[in-house]
Amino acid sequence: MAHVINSTADRSYKKFKLTYKALHRRLNFFQHSAIKKRLRDTLCRSVYLLKSLLLALLFLTYHSDYASSGQKENISRGQYLFNAAGCAGCHTDVKNKGRLLAGGRALDTPFGRYFGPNITPDKTYGIGRWGKKDFIRALRKGVSPEGSHYFPVFPYTSFTKMTDRDILDLRAYIFSLEPIAKPNIPHQINFPFMFRKLIHIWKFLFFDEGTLKLKSGETDDWNRGAYLTEALLHCGECHTPRNFLGAANRSKTMAGTSEGPNGDSVPNITPDLKTGIGNWSQKEVVDVLKIGILPDGDFVGGAMTEVTDNTANLTDSDLHAIAKYLSSLPAIKNKVTVK
Ligand code: HEC
Ligand code: HEC
Repeated sequence: MAHVINSTADRSYKKFKLTYKALHRRLNFFQHSAIKKRLRDTLCRSVYLLKSLLLALLFLTYHSDYASSGQKENISRGQYLFNAAGCAGCHTDVKNKGRLLAGGRALDTPFGRYFGPNITPDKTYGIGRWGKKDFIRALRKGVSPEGSHYFPVFPYTSFTKMTDRDILDLRAYIFSLEPIAKPNIPHQINFPFMFRKLIHIWKFLFFDEGTLKLKSGETDDWNRGAYLTEALLHCGECHTPRNFLGAANRSKTMAGTSEGPNGDSVPNITPDLKTGIGNWSQKEVVDVLKIGILPDGDFVGGAMTEVTDNTANLTDSDLHAIAKYLSSLPAIKNKVTVK
């Protein structure tokens, strides 16, 4: 009997053990796998998150790297254009040790005395608040962000011919410079030329807005020379005589004048043999622009020294392009009397 009881108890016990083990295994497995699943899920999610973060980071670094290297290129292109165009000249009061582009340089004209304004990126006194569109509009149209017209002493009549890309690169360079908090000096203009509204009429008569069109029949060199001479370096602003309203006399483009800026005589640089530079070689023109030296061994003086300070920075191919373009201009007979 004891045996029977024993074996029954044994069997029940074994059964119990089995059930318990199975239950335990299942429970264990369940717990185990649930934790594992949760762990795996969390891990996966964080790996996914990490991966996305890493990717975003990579993208950002690549992108900002790309942007900053692109911007660096714009700035250095802008610097080349800035030096060539001589923006610093009229916007820096070098005589009184003024800071770069902080304005205050006096510019005497038959219409009165103008002062180059502060064009540093200062937000109060300079152009620090200007967007790209404002900057393009100023150079292309001669109109301020507030919508008023600029006096044409600011040579936007030439700058209008620049490409958007060059104008924006100029801006990129100017905005990389130090902002300087210096207020502008008001212009001292003779009656009735001080009225900005009158500039509107002046522009209607004398100002043609728009980028210089490339000439398809000419070489790249010639077109580059035309662009540099007409748009960026605005040689005609001094070498082309002006009418009584200060507008360029287009029938005498580059033919010189005895009434240039500051009352200087400005020579005829058309290829006229007698009154212009028709007997100069292209190298002689390049030497004037690069070193400031004339074919007779003398150095250029007056307002041209500022120009040669700028053109000295141009590449040889740009200098040759200018010389080539000048030699292709119509020869105009115009004897400029030197005062
Ligand atoms: C021959 C002198 C001269 C040169 C060269 C010149 N500027 Fe100016 N600029 C002026 C004068 C003067 C004014 C002010 C015009 C006015 O008050 O109507 C002016 C105005 C400006 C303004 C508007 C500033 C403001 O506060 O509204 C900007 C921007 C400017 N110039 C940028 C340039 C850049 C860029 C260059 C070179 C590509 C340049 N300038 C070359 C004389 C010059
Ligand atoms: C700010 C006014 C001004 C601008 C802009 C200007 N010039 Fe002149 N240029 C002069 C004056 C003034 C002289 C005479 C210098 C002298 O008396 O020695 C001169 C002289 C010259 C001469 C010597 C001519 C001769 O017969 O002796 C050449 C060549 C010349 N300029 C070319 C250029 C070219 C090319 C540009 C454009 C890149 C240019 N100039 C822009 C004012 C200017």
